[in-house]
Amino acid sequence: MRIDILTILPELLESPFNHSIIKRGRGKGLLEICIHNIRDYAQNKHKQVDDYAFGGGAGMVMMIEPIDLCISKLKAERQYDEIIYLTPDGERFTQRTANYLATLSNIILLCGHYKGIDQRVRDHLVTRELSIGDYVLSGGEIAAMVVADSVGRLVPGVISDETSALTDSFQDNLLAPPVYTRPAEYKGWKVPEILLSGHQQKIDEWKHQQSVERTKKCRPDLLPD
Ligand code: ADE
Repeated sequence: MRIDILTILPELLESPFNHSIIKRGRGKGLLEICIHNIRDYAQNKHKQVDDYAFGGGAGMVMMIEPIDLCISKLKAERQYDEIIYLTPDGERFTQRTANYLATLSNIILLCGHYKGIDQRVRDHLVTRELSIGDYVLSGGEIAAMVVADSVGRLVPGVISDETSALTDSFQDNLLAPPVYTRPAEYKGWKVPEILLSGHQQKIDEWKHQQSVERTKKCRPDLLPD
């Protein structure tokens, strides 16, 4: 899978994809993450990428031309399945959306800034708009990191233990059960007996029950009525 990220702050996006699972996925050639600086496509001599809003109003607006030129260049090189704009007024990003995006070959993530981007980008260039939650970030970069990370780890082969992505919280609308490792007792705090019993069926039942309890307590909205 290839993810192209369009931003005016490329430095912000260098580090998160150079560690751990995502780094391994890139190293194995399963995942390509390419960062593009929108400013490289600015046509004026000051490399300007934002301008005042027509009709007034506070804040600068990202200009359509550099974004269009960058997207057009990428589209000339390959076909894109989705061109996604990260924005707080987009559709809520969920595990279900991550699962879907992980089945695609090429996607673009477009990071906004300032008071937003020229509406014509949203109307004519973007295929989908995603929000990572009901709060406003100072730009779309952190949201793009969240989407790229959660999608990238689902690409087959990126996580070595395939079952581990399937047992994540949210995959079956339940939060994941608690996990423990050695020592079995620490400062008198014990690992639940059942996990040491070796009785796999009972352990699985216990884990499921714990998942249900945790979901009831922390995220009752995930459970059916
Ligand atoms: N840009 C600013 N805030 C955002 C959010 N909550 N989700 C996605 N993109 C954003």
